[in-house]
Amino acid sequence: MRKNIVAGNWKMNTTVPEGVKLASEVNAALEGITPKCDVVIGVPFTHLTAVKAVIGEKLGLSAENCADKAKGAYTGEVSAAMVASTGATYVILGHSERRQYYGETAATLKDKVALALENGLCPIFCIGEVLEERENGTYFDVIKAQIVESLFDLSAEDFGKIVLAYEPVWAIGTGKTATADQAQEIHAFIRGLIAEKYGNQVADDTTILYGGSCKPSNAKELFEKPDVDGGLIGGAALDAASFMGIVTAF
Ligand code: 13P
Repeated sequence: MRKNIVAGNWKMNTTVPEGVKLASEVNAALEGITPKCDVVIGVPFTHLTAVKAVIGEKLGLSAENCADKAKGAYTGEVSAAMVASTGATYVILGHSERRQYYGETAATLKDKVALALENGLCPIFCIGEVLEERENGTYFDVIKAQIVESLFDLSAEDFGKIVLAYEPVWAIGTGKTATADQAQEIHAFIRGLIAEKYGNQVADDTTILYGGSCKPSNAKELFEKPDVDGGLIGGAALDAASFMGIVTAF
């Protein structure tokens, strides 16, 4: 059975004290409830250790990236092993902002996924088309290529350890959410690709999150779709009450 997950992606927001406060608030809110999904927060590298110290077992911790090299003379990079050593168990990889602003390619992402898995981290692997690709109808091909080029050399066992996040770039931070039907269409397409490659069981077990202007007011409608297994949340994850409003949409 696949898991439902609501994961926050804080991006480059909050100082360490602010992040510790926000994580503590989310953690406290989770204490009193039994959520119908796993809950994860994705925080900047600098915050991982301090945040880990103030959260309990009910809240998973994620990095927002990791290096495409294992270790060595790569000034400023942070390895998957370093991330794992903080107690984080997830890492967001291939976010469109990293593809767009930091030149991440399918090949680098393939290396990052392999290193994350070697170090016991669960990659939350992001895919999604830009507005032009949505409008000119090439978005199915774009999403297929992103998945095939970075992930389809994995064994079925390793593929089974990955979470996917469909994030249409035109919906990120714009307030323009994909409709629940648009999300469902792509999620079903992605699950079909996985079924073709790895079989129905692996496809059924893969968690596929939606990301892009997801908020408490639209989360329920999105999560009701059969192939939408949760959300990857940007802006709305920066406020504990709104993040919890999405968690409790399940
Ligand atoms: P927003 O929720 O701010 O649109 O961001 C989505 C996102 O990029 C999550 O990774």
